[in-house]
Amino acid sequence: MRIRQAHIDDGPQLWGLRLEMLADAPLAYLDTLDRAVARGLGEYHHRVRGWVTEPDRTLFVAVRDSALVGHLGVVDERGYTGLVMAYVTPAVRGQGVLKGLVDAAAEWSKDAGRRELLLEVMERNHRAIRAYEKLGFTATGNRHPHPYLTPFMELEMVRPA
Ligand SMILES: CC(C)(COP(=O)(O)OP(=O)(O)OC[C@H]1O[C@@H](n2cnc3c(N)ncnc32)[C@H](O)[C@@H]1OP(=O)(O)O)[C@@H](O)C(=O)NCCC(=O)NCCS
Repeated sequence: MRIRQAHIDDGPQLWGLRLEMLADAPLAYLDTLDRAVARGLGEYHHRVRGWVTEPDRTLFVAVRDSALVGHLGVVDERGYTGLVMAYVTPAVRGQGVLKGLVDAAAEWSKDAGRRELLLEVMERNHRAIRAYEKLGFTATGNRHPHPYLTPFMELEMVRPA
């Protein structure tokens, strides 16, 4: 397993991973499979271009046998680093892939002088919350309503980079 930054050539595989992710964990993200499919591949390639070219963000991918098996987006939020789009494909879960991605995020953050990693996770996503706690994240106490799944709340978690 190797962790690296995404390349523009990863576009087709990233699109496959995104559709898989939205089907596998429909409540975990601020997007839905229907919306992603309606926007289409062209719009997603535009997003990928942003991830690989914009200086304030990058997308780390986990690669096994040249297949992308997970990703984590990191964004400069001016003062802290925001983590988004955490996903690991089911076949390699429970093997520490998330740790590899978070370690890469922490290095990226420290290199830029930002000492804090912050994320939001759906309150009922217990497996993800446990995985983040195992990596040293703790709840800040802040909770926000999910933008369109209104009964659901998102929990904010933080850890030092
Ligand atoms: C949450 C997620 C990113 C964790 O990634 P991961 O690389 O599997 O993380 P870990 O290796 O630390 O495993 C986390 C836990 O998954 C569970 N797990 C183990 N094997 C598993 C498997 N085959 N399938 C599902 N879960 C498994 C275990 O409870 C494990 O905890 P443990 O090590 O204490 O036993 C991944 O499960 C995932 O992508 N889930 C769906 C999307 C999601 O919820 N993303 C978070 C958005 S905020």
